[in-house]
Amino acid sequence: MDYKESVVKLLDAVIPELDAATIQSKIEIPKDSGKGDFAFPAFNLAKERHQAPNQIAIEIVEQLDQNGFEKIEATGPYVNFFLDKTEAGKNFLNDILTNADYGHNTDGEAGHVTIDMSSPNIAKPMSMGHLRSTVIGNSLAEISAANGYQPVKINHLGDWGTQFGKLISAYKRWGSEAEVKADPINTLVKYYIRFHEEAKENPELDDEGRHWFKKLEDGDEEATALWKWFREESLQEFMNIYKVLDIDFDSFNGEAFYNDKMDEVVDLLEEAGILEESQGAEVVDLEDEGLNVAMIKRTDGATLYMTRDLAAAIYRKRQYNFVKSLYVVGGEQREHFQQLKAILKKMGYDWSDDIEHVAFGLITVDGKKLSTRSGRIILLKDVLDDSISLAREQIEEKNPTLANKDEVAYEVGVGAVVFHDLMNERLKNFDFNLEEVVRFEGDTGPYVQYANARAQSLLAKAGNPEIDKTALTITDDAVWEVEKLLSEFPNTIRRAWREFEPSIIAKYALNLARTFNKYYANSKILEEDAELNARLALVTSVSQVLTESLRLLGVKAPKEM
Ligand code: ARG
Repeated sequence: MDYKESVVKLLDAVIPELDAATIQSKIEIPKDSGKGDFAFPAFNLAKERHQAPNQIAIEIVEQLDQNGFEKIEATGPYVNFFLDKTEAGKNFLNDILTNADYGHNTDGEAGHVTIDMSSPNIAKPMSMGHLRSTVIGNSLAEISAANGYQPVKINHLGDWGTQFGKLISAYKRWGSEAEVKADPINTLVKYYIRFHEEAKENPELDDEGRHWFKKLEDGDEEATALWKWFREESLQEFMNIYKVLDIDFDSFNGEAFYNDKMDEVVDLLEEAGILEESQGAEVVDLEDEGLNVAMIKRTDGATLYMTRDLAAAIYRKRQYNFVKSLYVVGGEQREHFQQLKAILKKMGYDWSDDIEHVAFGLITVDGKKLSTRSGRIILLKDVLDDSISLAREQIEEKNPTLANKDEVAYEVGVGAVVFHDLMNERLKNFDFNLEEVVRFEGDTGPYVQYANARAQSLLAKAGNPEIDKTALTITDDAVWEVEKLLSEFPNTIRRAWREFEPSIIAKYALNLARTFNKYYANSKILEEDAELNARLALVTSVSQVLTESLRLLGVKAPKEM
């Protein structure tokens, strides 16, 4: 039951000046429930009607059929609509209980959305930035599916480039197989750093590195075998983290995958007449777009990050025929994606408009930026492990007899980190403090999980009875805030997709959890009276929507904690 639709219909009949879609877009949801459930601002008609908005509002109200509403009244320049709470609340609950996918829509018409996400670099640790990309990308995949699209999650691994020539050269000089096997990423990083240091004294090293990369590009057997091995070992470590997060991918086609697709890109750029020579290198000039020149081929013929991204974009369009192509990558690569889109456009690909750089801000710790170079790097694995132990301590304190403590501690600990990341508007930088993230009170994931567990335990206490969907009337006005929030879930899912903003779902879940807790604290939900069934229906609905909100964020919803 979409009440906004009915409000639009009513208004459309008496406002010939505006079409239904415009009316729909002007309708507001008042923050203060004393101003009703929907409001139409009459100043939108002041010009056309040459009248004061207050007068227009009064006239509209006079023309409207009040049937089905508690009341419709003019307050200043607004027409305020008050739903019949009992009637509307009953319909909201019925909607939720009869629809396991409540909140979803089919707007996407099954179109493919490719989501470039996570994409860490081989032979380097996965950073907090990659974690952000992983969890934001995963949530956007779920949100896209809830809006009727088919997501394709692509891990564009950083597994190609001159650095691999250096790494091979370093390994040939100082490497030990056993050492790499024991601790792959740290060991490879160590070789790489040593290579850089010694190259300062001995420039021969750089030549050697370039030589190995050339061999790799030409398919040399030894170079390829080493590269494959480094890639495998690194991927194993990344997989451990994906397993903890319970996130999977549809493709691991990283930069190397496009190696044999580069010549075509260069040909296409030439055909489009936009490839220029500059000091021996091949570039595309983007000055007319206000962007820097983009290098496509180095003097030595090697391709670049951009070349591989061009090949990837074209491949994805051919392979998946996407209707949207998202790149969940930190804000520092803004210009790279502007260039990527601009070049594709110049190549004549109109679908470049469907590419979106879904950027995000930095995570700081105690206000300071993290970077590998400054040594301020926190290892993801450690963050997640610490978070799980913190969750475990709190569970031990709150619910010492809980049966599956380890599992719940895992779901709460990991969920806390993921929720915290997604709760912040993605473009904002934020500070990370584990203690705050895992609290059971305040704006945290565990708080939402706890509200859901509380709802579940109420249902269990009542004996998990079958809900009678024909008796959903609750006369207690205290439930209205909860019911109304529940009814806003479909629109929340739409907005989260429109803005590529999981935080909209996270904030909604916090709000619903808080509102439900308030109701819970002030009412006798389990009292045996005529409306018990309806109240249990409400509790079931709250749990269904909280669980689904958390699922859209990639956070588990334990039934007990
Ligand atoms: N590997 C890159 C990095 O860590 C991110 C890749 C993003 N995706 C892309 N198609 N460029 O910075």
